[in-house]
Amino acid sequence: MNICVIGTGYVGLVTGVVFSDLGNDVVCVDKLSAKIDGLNKGVMPIYEPGLEEMVARNVADGRLQFSTDLEAAVTKAEVVFIAVGTPPREDGSTDLSYVEDAAKGVARALNSYKVIVNKSTVPVGTGDFVRQVIMTNRRRAVDFDVVSNPEFLREGSAITDTLVPDRIVIGAPNRVVAMRLLELYAPLERPMIITDVASAEMIKYASNAFLATKISFANAVANICEEAGADVTQVVKGMGLDSRIGAAFLSAGLGYGGSCFPKDTRSLLHTAQTFGYDFPLLKATIETNEEQPRRFIRKIHDALGGDDLKGLTVGVLGLAFKPNTDDMREAKSLDVITDLLACGATVKAYDPIAIENTRSVFPHITYGANAYEVAAGADALVVVTEWNEFKTLNFERLASIMNRRLILDGRNIYDPETVRRNGFEYHSIGRVT
Ligand code: UGA
Repeated sequence: MNICVIGTGYVGLVTGVVFSDLGNDVVCVDKLSAKIDGLNKGVMPIYEPGLEEMVARNVADGRLQFSTDLEAAVTKAEVVFIAVGTPPREDGSTDLSYVEDAAKGVARALNSYKVIVNKSTVPVGTGDFVRQVIMTNRRRAVDFDVVSNPEFLREGSAITDTLVPDRIVIGAPNRVVAMRLLELYAPLERPMIITDVASAEMIKYASNAFLATKISFANAVANICEEAGADVTQVVKGMGLDSRIGAAFLSAGLGYGGSCFPKDTRSLLHTAQTFGYDFPLLKATIETNEEQPRRFIRKIHDALGGDDLKGLTVGVLGLAFKPNTDDMREAKSLDVITDLLACGATVKAYDPIAIENTRSVFPHITYGANAYEVAAGADALVVVTEWNEFKTLNFERLASIMNRRLILDGRNIYDPETVRRNGFEYHSIGRVT
């Protein structure tokens, strides 16, 4: 099939390369020429395991192209995916201006029947909006259909998530249109669900909001565990073994970050409120998530003896919003480092791949080449992101190089007994200290 993907962000790029890998002819379009130039030279705009190799293979085989020429790409495509950014507005609602621009571009190039697929994360009703924009702006009375096909990939495992998704959701105006997409996804041999357009749009937001709620629930339970002398890691293990609950997304920590959960929960709340429903459950999810880093920061202050941290050095391990990505959007390290600096502490930080992205936010802190460089001379070591390499640090070595043996673990990656046996004071989340 001839496919055009508009937008070479996370979703667009991964979708495009996977469809080309399945044997389709794909043109990925972006208006940022620097990005397209880079991609044409094999430079990936994002860090994602396996992406570069897959792009190179499909470009070499002639199935994958990158271009700024939207008109040419849409003209020859049978299916057009819109996978552009949908940033949040101040009030939590979703800015659809990039979706609108893409739809106008499609309308201008519309030369034959096409299926236009919304893959961007968009509020319910956007399918109708895109349809309307194309109707108004098309130059020829050519027929088209708009489909919602939300994406569920996670950063860091985007290729696998796209090749082996739990489900493929296709929201189409009728079965004939849905069949076009079914055909495209058939080689993956994964469960597919066909719905109307609005339901597919809701599935995406409801899924992200539910996962966010699981995390906030685990964090709320953790906060009670701390008072009650229970261990949240044991509690969620016991809960998760109930197949109706499931173990995933119950890890207590500093709360959820990234470019999706914070934005999508606020957007769904905004949508609900525009329909006159206040969605108190989702509000509580968001509030719990905002409170979680504040509680942790209070722990850091308590352990270090107050709000004045002048003269103290704190080592921060992990900067990205989660492991295996260099993405800093809504990363909890931003809250933690901002507070430490405001209170006068000297901050040394390390992350396996997100240092470059952090430098632009915090140009004046010291960056180490590894965890031990950050720990050397520090009065406290703070774990913010649970990279695997932090899980196996040598405590004897840490004890010998730190100024004070103090670890604050925002992701519960250590066994409290082991840390304490090595002479450390240890604070984590939802476990008795
Ligand atoms: C999330 C969803 O998992 C994807 O299914 C979805 O497609 C994507 O958003 C999106 O809408 O585009 P992502 O943001 O890449 O994917 O990251 P996740 O792995 O879901 O993690 C989100 C946040 O939750 C991270 O900050 C992580 O540290 C936190 N988290 C996750 C917890 O605090 N506890 C957990 O148990 C799990």
